[in-house]
Amino acid sequence: MLSVSVNGVEREAPRVERNLLSYLRFDLGLTGTKYGCGEGFCGACTVLVDGKPLRSCMTTVGAVAGGAVTTIEGVSGGDTLEAQHPVQRAFVQEQAMQCGYCIPGFVMSTIALLNREPHPSSGTISEALAEHMCRCGTYQRIERAVERAARGDV
Ligand code: FES
Repeated sequence: MLSVSVNGVEREAPRVERNLLSYLRFDLGLTGTKYGCGEGFCGACTVLVDGKPLRSCMTTVGAVAGGAVTTIEGVSGGDTLEAQHPVQRAFVQEQAMQCGYCIPGFVMSTIALLNREPHPSSGTISEALAEHMCRCGTYQRIERAVERAARGDV
């Protein structure tokens, strides 16, 4: 049986070829990770694997076996604003979400970005989030949220 770590819990995964996004959402009930395009373009399904952003819709469970998968549920300490990850708080404070569907993916990529580069330039932020789509078009507010999180003003 294949084993995979999800949000710090060692799990037995059913099949090597099982799609990672489906596994997270339907087998584990971690529905914070979203299905958008299913083709690797929109970023809604982004999770971290060993700290790096990965499109879970394009990944099998077998490909991440032995790695540490982190979903949006794994970065939040609870439902209150105070308990949220600082990046989540910055997104709320800048009102970066409209419908909110794409936001978990943006948050995961932002966490990865700030972990590798705590004070990114505007260009670096744009580059890091370039392959995430927001159909509500709140890109400017999202960028302000990333800058706010980088400042620690949360
Ligand atoms: Fe995976 Fe769009 S759902 S990139």
